[in-house]
Amino acid sequence: MTTISPSQISRFVAIAIILIVANVLVSCQIDSGKDGGSQIAASIVIVETAPKSESNSNATPVLTSDIQPPTVTPLPTMTSSLTPSSTTTDKPTPSPTPIGVCNQRNPGDDLLTLVTRDYGLSRDFVPYDLVDISDYLPQTVTLGYPTRARRITMEPLQKLIDDMIADGLYPQIISGYRGYSAQAIAWSKWQNEVPETAAIISAPPGHSEHQLGTTFDFGSPELPEIVGVEDIQFHTYFYKTSEGQWLLENAHEYGFTLSYPRETFEMTGFFYEPWHYRYIGTELATQLKNDNLTLFEYLSTSQEAPCIP
Ligand code: DAL
Ligand code: ZN
Repeated sequence: MTTISPSQISRFVAIAIILIVANVLVSCQIDSGKDGGSQIAASIVIVETAPKSESNSNATPVLTSDIQPPTVTPLPTMTSSLTPSSTTTDKPTPSPTPIGVCNQRNPGDDLLTLVTRDYGLSRDFVPYDLVDISDYLPQTVTLGYPTRARRITMEPLQKLIDDMIADGLYPQIISGYRGYSAQAIAWSKWQNEVPETAAIISAPPGHSEHQLGTTFDFGSPELPEIVGVEDIQFHTYFYKTSEGQWLLENAHEYGFTLSYPRETFEMTGFFYEPWHYRYIGTELATQLKNDNLTLFEYLSTSQEAPCIP
């Protein structure tokens, strides 16, 4: 009788996993809601591949992008160097005290409110200083979408866009402020269309940084060719585009930070989004860039939990 050794079983499992390639292609188009949700136009492809380490006999396929599986970044310990100094004018105000129960928080002006799966915003929270970004940026950038955002982000965003254009790039803003209702519509659409991956690509209503009005999804005209899909607007390959690379390198100088890097998937629960940047002010954004930290990691370790469960 032929026997199969454990190493042969491992090889079979590894090969089987490599053959699992799941492409999820979704398109969604949502118009502005009454609560001011910005246009949502998304085509996202997520590729599921095997982890590089094929010796893992548990062999659970890992959702990842093209190069390597996400890895868990250990939470850093709190150090005094993480405390922002008070010398710059755009210094955001931390929220050292709880601002409400988890799903009823109203951050007001605070640029550093933690918004995650666990820490949500009130359904009634609408930033008081929303403006139309088309009043500040050319149509080649806004693509004609009715996107809104907090006024406080406009000057840094304009500077960033101007400098990208001066560097020969073609930046696009695909999404900005999304109100509670608009996020609810987007979330339920993803749930219906791709229930198995919806949770890692879309935040439930009240739990999206887009509701803060300080977060933007950037696009690149290079993306369709790089991905090989016409009209695609969101794909992890955004990091390969000239615009994605520029933002990764320079966005902090304008006060923007990448919320969902590749490595933080298991920590935040959200898949790698190389296009999703949040405005937090240049000082902290630069500090986070230098320390290789996300706002999530910084807030988790430097503040009291801003939420009473
Ligand atoms: N795609 C991000 C997680 C959001 O829905 O806010
Ligand atoms: Zn986003």
